[in-house]
Amino acid sequence: MEGTISYYWDTKSDEKFDWGSLLALINSRQVGFIQYRLKKGETGEIQLVRVLSHYRGRGIGEEMYKRLEDRAKRLGVKRLIGTIGFRRIYGDPERAELFWKRMGFAITGYDMEKELS
Ligand SMILES: CC(C)(COP(=O)(O)OP(=O)(O)OC[C@H]1O[C@@H](n2cnc3c(N)ncnc32)[C@H](O)[C@@H]1OP(=O)(O)O)[C@@H](O)C(=O)NCCC(=O)NCCS
Repeated sequence: MEGTISYYWDTKSDEKFDWGSLLALINSRQVGFIQYRLKKGETGEIQLVRVLSHYRGRGIGEEMYKRLEDRAKRLGVKRLIGTIGFRRIYGDPERAELFWKRMGFAITGYDMEKELS
């Protein structure tokens, strides 16, 4: 990997929700993000995940997801959900589906879900 990778939370929080993005940076250049909204103690929604094509397949997506899952667990979130219809915007649904299955999600149609224990 050319350069040092770092992760930066850009978030807001109130009594009920925690929401925003986690950015992946290499030498201050943004190469990926995951956008989310967590309802504390209840359900978290993953809204968008993207790694720049040149940087895919190096574990950046997995690292961002794991950090988000840790954050969700700390906030008492019981399950994570997402709607994967938006994958089509980026034109590679098979890859995205493999990624989310690997992260432990069950996929039904356009919906994905993971129970956090
Ligand atoms: C999906 C995406 C975020 C994954 O990010 P990434 O940094 O490339 O993923 P990682 O390198 O962390 O891969 C983690 C695991 O996902 C799976 N995976 C990722 N890319 C894969 C591919 N091309 N083929 C098969 N499995 C793949 C693998 O199991 C991989 O683990 P492994 O390398 O140990 O086998 C990225 O490819 C992307 O931005 N795609 C375009 C946008 C998109 O589809 N977003 C998702 C919308 S739901």
